Amino acid sequence: MYLHIPFCDSKCNYCAFNSFTTNHHLKSEYMQAALRQLEHDLNTFNVKKLQSVYIGGGTPSTIKPQLYEPLFEKILPLISQNTEITVEANPNSATLSWLKGMKSLGAIRISFGAQSFDDKKLKLLGRAHSPQEAIAAVERAFKVGFEHISIDLIYETALDSKTLLEQEITQALKLPIDHISTYALILEPNTPFENKTDVKAKDENQGYFIKELIPFEQYEVSNYGKYRSKHNLGYWQLKEYIGIGCGAVGFVQNRRYYPKTDLASYIKNPLTYNIEHLSKEDIRFEKIFLGLRSIVGVHLTLVDKEKVAILENEGKVEVKNSKMYNKNFFLSDEIALFLHDF
Ligand SMILES: C[S@@+](CC[C@H](N)C(=O)[O-])C[C@H]1O[C@@H](n2cnc3c(N)ncnc32)[C@H](O)[C@@H]1O
Ligand code: SF4
Repeated sequence: MYLHIPFCDSKCNYCAFNSFTTNHHLKSEYMQAALRQLEHDLNTFNVKKLQSVYIGGGTPSTIKPQLYEPLFEKILPLISQNTEITVEANPNSATLSWLKGMKSLGAIRISFGAQSFDDKKLKLLGRAHSPQEAIAAVERAFKVGFEHISIDLIYETALDSKTLLEQEITQALKLPIDHISTYALILEPNTPFENKTDVKAKDENQGYFIKELIPFEQYEVSNYGKYRSKHNLGYWQLKEYIGIGCGAVGFVQNRRYYPKTDLASYIKNPLTYNIEHLSKEDIRFEKIFLGLRSIVGVHLTLVDKEKVAILENEGKVEVKNSKMYNKNFFLSDEIALFLHDF
């Protein structure tokens, strides 16, 4: 299950996610609408069990734990000790009481948008916190007892150099975390960075450098863990999930469904979706694309055997138990293109 919280205290310069910095007085109504959608989706899709729950945003830490309570009560019969419940948080709003509240509701994993531990880089990105606040937030979550802590970092900004990236990762590894997500900066349309080519690094191969610095397993092109997130893996295995909230996406019975992205419209009618039907071909493409980006791999029945043999000879992939595994996730797009006949 994915739950989207479309509120942020401020908007970062690079971010195109569906979130609003105004209308915070609608939070309570929003969570009631999300509960309506949750009840509806659980019934409609006949959900019997949840393997993972991910509360993302926007900024989930802008919403008080009390407002999450009815949703947690609703899913309680569907979760077990093995259910991974993750919540995203921003360093400036993950207070001690918020962390304690979310932990006592059942969250076991927390993912912080740290982005950087460098003051200038945080300012460039338009973040609302200092490096010290990010460090303190992770330490607070650890003290509160979260089992798994992850941080997001952004690289390939104009300020990134090998020296700075080394400092970033060295600082990250001093923290009690078991997972790091690293994202190369994308200049997204309709953001302040849209046309600002000067904020992007000229050297576009920093991913390789970062990979060498992180002693965790790279289990997807942007994700490194001592612990593999079940929820993340579920996406790459193309498992089904319900998508709750304004601007969320769900994937059930070969259909992607999109609840409304406008806050007022969502609150008014959280049960109206746009639906995209995925053809067999679409599903095959997704399986190839996602399998190449991650340790999930691609079943050989989905791809041209001769092309796989070429890739194997070139040492780019490994074939094991009827599956092909990509040895270099940074090349996944190129390999997908080479395999392209879809
Ligand atoms: C859904 S966002 C929300 C996280 C949380 N609200 C926060 O900012 O702390 C998840 C992550 O995507 C990454 N991200 C978002 N937009 C990006 C962009 N344009 N380029 C690179 N990474 C981006 C950031 O690292 C961010 O933490
Ligand atoms: S990066 Fe996070 S805090 Fe910043 S605008 Fe996007 S969702 Fe909000």
